[in-house]
Parts: sequence; C-alpha cells; structure tokens
Amino acid sequence: MATTSSSQLALFGGAPVRDARKPWPAWPIFDDREKQALVEVLESGKWWYGERVARFEREYAAFQDTKHCVTVTSGTTAGEVLLQAIGLNSGDEVIVPPYTFYATASMVLRRGGIPVFVDVDDSWCMNPDLIEAAISPRTRAIMPVHLGGRVCDMDRINEIAARHGLLVLEDACHSWGGKWKGKGTGALGKAGIFSFQASKNINAAEGGAIVTDDEDLAELCRSITNCGRLKGGLWYSHPNLGTNARLTEFQAALLSVQLTRLEEHNRTRDKNAAILNEALARIEGLTPQPGDERITRRAYHLYCLRIDPETFGCSREKLVEAAKAEGLPGISEGYGIPLYEQPSIANAPNAPDYSKQECPVARDICSRSGIWIAHTALLGSEADMHDIVAIFTKIKKNAEALDRA
Ligand SMILES: Cc1ncc(COP(=O)(O)O)c(C=O)c1O
Repeated sequence: MATTSSSQLALFGGAPVRDARKPWPAWPIFDDREKQALVEVLESGKWWYGERVARFEREYAAFQDTKHCVTVTSGTTAGEVLLQAIGLNSGDEVIVPPYTFYATASMVLRRGGIPVFVDVDDSWCMNPDLIEAAISPRTRAIMPVHLGGRVCDMDRINEIAARHGLLVLEDACHSWGGKWKGKGTGALGKAGIFSFQASKNINAAEGGAIVTDDEDLAELCRSITNCGRLKGGLWYSHPNLGTNARLTEFQAALLSVQLTRLEEHNRTRDKNAAILNEALARIEGLTPQPGDERITRRAYHLYCLRIDPETFGCSREKLVEAAKAEGLPGISEGYGIPLYEQPSIANAPNAPDYSKQECPVARDICSRSGIWIAHTALLGSEADMHDIVAIFTKIKKNAEALDRA
C-alpha cells in the first residue's frame, strides 16, 4: 500500500501534523495592564525599591500561603541569600537532587557548602528512600526541587528532616502556585525559593523570591539583600554582611500583574496536561511524569515524560527531532547530564570527589529517556493537545523507519 503524505513523517517529506503557520501560545503573555503598570512606574519617577516591591511581596506571600516574602534579583540569588541567612558554614552539607537546574547545586558551593546528591525516582523528584543514607554529621539541610512543578513527597521529606534536625529549603523555582495537601510550595519546609526569570510562569525578565513563615529569617534575608542594612537602621550602617539583590519597582509592577493571571494559567495547563497524560500513557513506550493525589494544585513548568526507546521503537533524540518537524517546537531532551558531572561543580574547590557518584535514575532521564514539553504549549487549546497526541501517535507508527534512518 502506498504511503500517503500525511502518514509519512515530516522528516521524510510528509505533511506535518501541524501547519507551521498555526502558532503555539507566545511567551510572555501581557496586555495593556502590564503596559499601564510600567508607564505608571516610569512617570512616577519612583523606580527604586519601594511601595510596589512591598505590595508584590505581600501578594506573593499570600499566594504561596506564607507569612513573609523577600524579593531578590533571581532564583539563584534567592538560594544564595537563604543559605547565608540559615548560617551555612564552610563544609556544611546540603542534600540536593542531581536532576535539576545548575543553580540548585552551584548556590551551595558558592556559599562554601557541599552538595550531596540523592537520586530522583520515577516521579523525577528526590527519592525519599535514599535520603537517610546521605545524611552525615555535617548535613544542615535538604533542598528538594519540585521538578517541572511536580511537588516532591513532602510528607516523607519533612518527617526525615524533623527526625534528623535538618532544615527543609524548597527549591520551588518550577512551582508557582503548586500546593501539597492544600498548602503552597515554599511554605512546606523552613523556607522556599522562586524564580521570575523570563522563561518562568510569572516573568519579570529576571527576579526571585524567598518565602518563609519565620519572621527573623525573613528579616535577615531582607537585610542581606539590602547591603546588610537593618530595618529602621542608619543608611550607612551595615551590621550584616550583605549584597545588593534588590528588585526594582518596574519588575514588581510587572509581577503584580502577571500574578493575576497565574491561577487561570495553572488551571489551563493542568486541564491540558490531563488530556496528554491520558492519551500519551496509552502509547506503548511512553510514560508521563506521575502525579500524586496529595498535590492539590498542580503547577506545570514543564510537561515531562519518559520514553523507553526499545519499547517505543526509536531513540529519544530521533523522536524529538521528528516531533519538531511535525510542528512541536517546544519539545526537548532537557538536562543532559546529572549535575555532579557539570565541570564547574565537579571541579569546584570545595567539591568532594564525585567521580564515583552514581544516580542511575537521573542518569537514565538525562541520557536516554527524559523528554520535556515547554509549559507554554500547555496554554494552548484542547485541539492543540490533540495535535500533540497526533504527533506522538504518528511518530510511534513510524518509529521503526525512523530508527533505521
Ligand atoms: C530548579 C531551579 N532552581 C533555581 C533556578 C535559578 O533561577 P534563576 O534563573 O532566576 O536564577 C532555576 C532557573 O531556571 C531553576 O530551574
């Protein structure tokens, strides 16, 4: 039987599932409200760290169910400031996953600490079963990462931390609005950090935040971000060793408007992800990132799924290339190596010898099975989700030919 052009892969000259002229949702999303907010700041002449920053901090603390929010210039800075504020000393250990963005480990090293890597499990998040074996007398904190917005098993992590007297510092840089048993991410441990960098689900080009219920910790974080000054203190008095990590009024004004859209965006992403979860799980060789019924509000920064190349019929790389050709530009292989193999982490002066470190699940996701679809695709219509399913279905049908090519 002759192959029709629509059943032939676009990579091999067939018609793509999705017409290239049909756009996916653009990012960032903004309208006249952002424009007006920015113009208001401009015309006020008050551009510097003032009422709008304070207002956004109140709004964001309430949104994440915490008492305090301290904004900073980035998610990375949020982590570095927080680690200083908890008094991380040189040689102190922080337990982190190896499958995450660079900053989760680099921030520990830059504060003189030692990242101790605990593998992820099939949830793509830190495996609680492996944490206790990684605890030593130097361990100060556990830093779980809600990968892609999938909240970690915070019951287990908090229970282990409490038993060993460790702090839980959430890297919630993928999880704006996520909730575990009704409570916001960032509020589930001692403190949490967020990023508002341009690719993130609320976006001020750059920006970040620390959230916590601990007033003293929040005050210390604020002091560190504001050149070590104290609330009500003299301008040129710097009792704490601080830096300048202040947000501007422009960024805060943008964020306040972006925040008004987040809840609706989260709902749309969740609804669309449910369509993908259902349909993609039925394709042999594909496994969407599993959820957990204790996640009462799911934030999606990434739609994650794994391929088993043997069962699916072709490699991840070929699938990704073919999916792009079929009209899904937001698909990628994600992080390529576990963080302990990043040269600047492995060779940091205070890093231990990671050459024998093995984290098989992170390794598999990095090198063979992990696939991401950017959160912006999840803001599309139901028909867009059916296009994604049609793309994977078509590739599955052609997997063997693709594998041979
Ligand atoms: C998990 C995670 N942690 C920390 C960060 C750091 O945030 P930023 O880029 O704002 O410094 C990111 C940013 O991508 C991230 O994905």
